[in-house]
Order: sequence, then C-alpha cells, then structure tokens
Amino acid sequence: MKILSIETSCDETGISILEVKGGKKPSFKVLADSLSSQIVIHAPYGGVYPMLAKREHIKNLPILLEKVLKKSKIKKVDLIAVTTGPGLEPALWTGIVFAKELAEKWGVPLIPVNHMEGHVLSVFGKNKGTFKIPQGKNKLKFPVLSLLVSGGHTELVLVKDWMKYKVIGQTLDDAAGEAFDKVARMLGLPYPGGPEISKLAEKERRKKLREAELFGVSAGRRLEDGANFSAEKLRPQKVAAPLSLPRPMLHSKNFDFSFSGLKTAVLYLIRKIELKNHLNDKTKAQIAMEFENAVIETLIHKTKKAIEKHKIETLIIAGGVSANKYLRKEVKKNIKNVNILFPEKKLTTDNSIMIGIVGYLQYIKNKKRVPRIRNIKASGNLSL
Ligand code: KG4
Ligand code: ZN
Repeated sequence: MKILSIETSCDETGISILEVKGGKKPSFKVLADSLSSQIVIHAPYGGVYPMLAKREHIKNLPILLEKVLKKSKIKKVDLIAVTTGPGLEPALWTGIVFAKELAEKWGVPLIPVNHMEGHVLSVFGKNKGTFKIPQGKNKLKFPVLSLLVSGGHTELVLVKDWMKYKVIGQTLDDAAGEAFDKVARMLGLPYPGGPEISKLAEKERRKKLREAELFGVSAGRRLEDGANFSAEKLRPQKVAAPLSLPRPMLHSKNFDFSFSGLKTAVLYLIRKIELKNHLNDKTKAQIAMEFENAVIETLIHKTKKAIEKHKIETLIIAGGVSANKYLRKEVKKNIKNVNILFPEKKLTTDNSIMIGIVGYLQYIKNKKRVPRIRNIKASGNLSL
C-alpha cells in the first residue's frame, strides 16, 4: 500500500510518499520525502505568523506534490493522511483542503492525523530507506512514557499502547520550545531560538570546562559559589556576575510544567544587567547557558518522577526541542536503566513522514470506520 502524507500545522510544509507492507506488523519504505521550511519568512517576526504560513503552504503544496510524485515515479496512492491538529488553524486548513481534493480526485480514503501522535511515532521513522515499528516479539513493554517538547507543546504522555494515550502532565503556560524562542528574541538572536540558544550555551559550557581544567574550578559552578581559592587568586578580575534562574515547578507534586515565570525571570535579569551596562556577548552566553540548564533540569526531573511512578522501561523524547544536544546528553547521563528513544535529527522538527506512519496505523486499526472526507476538519487544540 502506498500512502501520501501531508503536514502543514505550523511553518513547515511537508509531503511524503511511503510504501507499507506487512499489515499489522508494518515495514515502511520512504519512496519520496519533501519538506519546505518557512523559517526565513517568519524570522523577521520572531515567530510564526499564521496568515503568512497559510499563504506559503498554499504556494508550496502543489510544488511538493509534483516533486514527490516525480521522485517516487507513481501517479496515485492508496491512502492519504493529513494533519488535522493541533496547530495553527489557518495553516492546518491548507493541508486539509488540499488533501480532500486529492482524495476525492483519486477516490481514496483520507485519514486525519494528530500531529502529537506523529511526534511520538517519529522515533521509529527515517527520512530515507526502510524502517519498522516494534511489534510482535520486539514489542515494547507498555506503558511507554513520552516526553513531547515542541514549539507549541510540552507534555508527558503515557502510551498504554500505540494509539492509546493519556496525558499525565503538561505546561500550564508556555511550551519549552516557545520559551527558547522568546528568550532568544530577548537576547537578540534569530528565530527559531532553540538552536541559537543551544549553540551559545554549548560554547559557554566548553569555555567553563576549559577554565576548570586550567584553574581547577569545577565546570558549571559559578566562581562566587565557592570556587577554588587559587583560581580566584589567579584571575580575580574575571569573576563573573552571579547569574541564576529559577527551576519552575520542580517541587510540585504533579507532572505539569510552567515556563512563563522562567521567561519573565530572564527578562528581569537582562534588565538588571543592562542597567549596569553589562549586557554583551559574554553575559548573553551566560544567560543562554543558565536558561538552558533550567529548562533541561526541569524536564528531566519531572520525567524521572513519572518514570518511577509508572515503572517505565521505555522513554520516548520527541518534538523540536528533542534536537537539543544538551538535553540528549543530560537525559542519557541522568536516566539509567531505561530504553531511551529519540527521533533521528531530521525527524525532530515537523515533517510528513511521522504523519504517514500514524495515518497507516490509524487506517489499519479503524479500517471499517474511515471518516467521511467532508467531515474532516482542522482542530487547533486537538489533544492526544
Ligand atoms: O516540533 P516543532 O518543529 O514544531 C512544533 O510542533 O511546535 O518544534 C519547533 C520548536 C521551536 O520552538 C524551536 O526553537 C525548537 O523546537 N527547537 C529547539 C532546538 N531545535 C528546535 N529547541 C532547543 N534546542 C534545539 N536544538
Ligand atoms: Zn511539531
């Protein structure tokens, strides 16, 4: 069976064609994959501008379709999958309208897909070649825990089985990726802010490590926090300003997150530093590192608590922020005896491969209850 999948929930237009064999134990082959990012278009606004996203999706969809049909050398498919939510409704509708027209023209079923379910299953995908979802004797032990961290979402989800989800914690305000983007903007860094903050923080971490090796100061520890006496003596003029940010909701009893207070704390910190005329590349890098530390410590702390409570053996971490190198490193360092799955780099951010995977699994499960094409609609706040 060949599936065409379409993703337009935010600022990436994606269309792929997957070939699937094996019924309930499917093996997927990527016949063609095309993705068009709108980052440069939204960058001047410091975030995604829904009406611009809509315009770009409308422009891109026919171009990408032509590309994937040409690459896969096929004229039509057996099934179409399209993201129907969550996301920006004007953007979602562009993909849905396009998919409906195609499904009617080709006379094939159209499967609505939850974008977040796509992120969960993205850990098994590849953007080239073949891949499988663990089934049968390779089946994972459920419940699996999934930490979904993207620009619009931060949630801990219990996966009781594929397609059976329970959200056990979520952000009460900003998503982790959104906080990265907003803090980056405060620091004058371009959109999307996640990779920019991460680069700056990594540079600062390496610098701290070099200093530690040179002067025997433990890395990541501020000099004021009781640094090695001889190091202070050696470089008294280099003592950094104390930079510290809160770890939001670290001690709350639930699995919820909150990043808006942290974002405000960064704003106040920047103002304080600016008043002293000290906001420069050096202090910006220190803020980036402290901010990244705060977000990642919080994410890991809550995830570990959920792992203990639900006796988890497999952890999935997916969504745009899962591309973060420091998050990956710290997760591996701090979470032991758990099988940890991350998506491959190209499938961390939005893509249509993950939509095709879910579309197929949903179709196989609900073959007899395929929705009527005309009833499919965008649902900006769709939950798992
Ligand atoms: O999953 P995604 O592509 O879109 C949504 O569904 O929201 O995630 C995009 C988010 C953006 O906020 C971006 O800043 C963040 O993922 N992101 C990162 C990194 N790469 C992307 N955040 C932190 N570190 C990164 N390396
Ligand atoms: Zn996403």
